[in-house]
Amino acid sequence: MLLRGIISNPLPSLHLKTPLRLRNFTATITNKYSISDEDLESRGFLLRRTFSDLNLNHLNSIFVAVGFPKRDPEKIKVALENTNSLLWVEHKKSQKPVAFARATGDNVFNAIIWDVVVDPSYQGIGLGKAVMERLVEELLEKGIVNIALYSEPRVLGFYRPLGFVADPDGIRGMVYSRKQRKKK
Ligand SMILES: CC(C)(COP(=O)(O)OP(=O)(O)OC[C@H]1O[C@@H](n2cnc3c(N)ncnc32)[C@H](O)[C@@H]1OP(=O)(O)O)[C@@H](O)C(=O)NCCC(=O)NCCS
Repeated sequence: MLLRGIISNPLPSLHLKTPLRLRNFTATITNKYSISDEDLESRGFLLRRTFSDLNLNHLNSIFVAVGFPKRDPEKIKVALENTNSLLWVEHKKSQKPVAFARATGDNVFNAIIWDVVVDPSYQGIGLGKAVMERLVEELLEKGIVNIALYSEPRVLGFYRPLGFVADPDGIRGMVYSRKQRKKK
């Protein structure tokens, strides 16, 4: 089992998710982004890489709006403090977050990407891709080559063009399941 990592904040439908790992991605992504920082800014969006100005209640609202469970903001804060890389997009006018993604890991070999979300009102305009491209590049720049995430089946098509493959070389992800354990 080569998928190194555990689910720190599983979604309710965890059993439906497929583990994805990044493959041969460096050449694809380091050349250029699908949308430049300047273009994003001209469209009214700022890229942010720390959570000091991130309103956690607003972030929580996006989680809830996309169907993630609502979380204790204090716990979100702890999670973000223990996050190695994060990126969010601020809507300049409202100063609210509209897109977010983060990665945890050991900062050397392995990273797992979590909480990739775009506010439903801002989906479909390239923000999810913009955030993912930059997050992955940041990890690759650190020399991290084992980059994994868990994908809902309906989102596989979003991650694949970004370089992620499901079950690479037949490797399957496993997650701890309390339900499964109780059955024994
Ligand atoms: C999945 C999500 C992050 C995508 O963000 P987005 O900003 O709407 O996506 P983008 O506009 O950046 O789309 C980038 C590309 O992916 C494609 N795409 C977006 N969502 C897709 C999906 N669910 N399935 C297949 N392709 C998808 C777009 O058509 C676009 O293609 P193009 O580059 O050829 O034009 C966003 O829809 C979201 O927050 N969904 C709810 C939360 C969620 O499911 N997160 C993932 C948890 S596993």
